[in-house]
Amino acid sequence: MASSSSMLLLAALLASISWQAIASDPSPLQDFCVADMHSPVRVNGFVCKNPMEVNADDFFKAAALDKPRVTNKVGSNVTLINVMQIAGLNTLGISIARIDYAPLGQNPPHTHPRATEILTVLEGTLYVGFVTSNQENKFLSKVLNKGDVFVFPVGLIHFQFNPNPYKPAVAIAALSSQNPGAITIANAVFGSKPAISDDVLAKAFHVEKNTIDYLQAQFWENNQY
Ligand SMILES: *[C@@H]1O[C@H](CO)[C@@H](O)[C@H](O)[C@H]1NC(C)=O
Repeated sequence: MASSSSMLLLAALLASISWQAIASDPSPLQDFCVADMHSPVRVNGFVCKNPMEVNADDFFKAAALDKPRVTNKVGSNVTLINVMQIAGLNTLGISIARIDYAPLGQNPPHTHPRATEILTVLEGTLYVGFVTSNQENKFLSKVLNKGDVFVFPVGLIHFQFNPNPYKPAVAIAALSSQNPGAITIANAVFGSKPAISDDVLAKAFHVEKNTIDYLQAQFWENNQY
């Protein structure tokens, strides 16, 4: 005898399962679908280039992640290789990034709306973490050393920080989308164009409006992705 609450639970479970399926990159229906960036046809992703004209270079980018990058104001630089850099990634649901961190640099709190991320440290040390969704907003964090691997689940706010004041750090991240997208929290909230009303943000952040005005007046620089 199924109670109405267990039926509701089942319905919620089914709804969450179908949402997960809709929210990930579509699975390929052929070996590959190399993006044709010149097609005027609009689809979810890119239309396929003629498979007869596909060659190894469609799946290749020379020296894409070979060297350290100049880091930005918060001390990081993300070099993302997504479908825009390698057209063969179209429909395959994967991309890769190299992240360079200056001493005491960080890749500030951000989310990827379309991807889970798995990160490994190549050099140095990183203090990393993510926060679960409402209501708990539980913070899960870890200090990673060379060779350690950590996962940031899709959509959750996460960051990496290099706690070493003398040495840079480097990480490689794989992401489960051909185009993971990124929303850097501070930049999106305080650096939007046009600005969000300071009445809204003052109330949301429980601060005076002049604190919001100060934050909105800063220069908000995004990493490449
Ligand atoms: C990342 O590094 C590249 C190459 O060093 C540089 O051209 C680019 O401006 C850097 N990006 C940021 C956000 O600093």
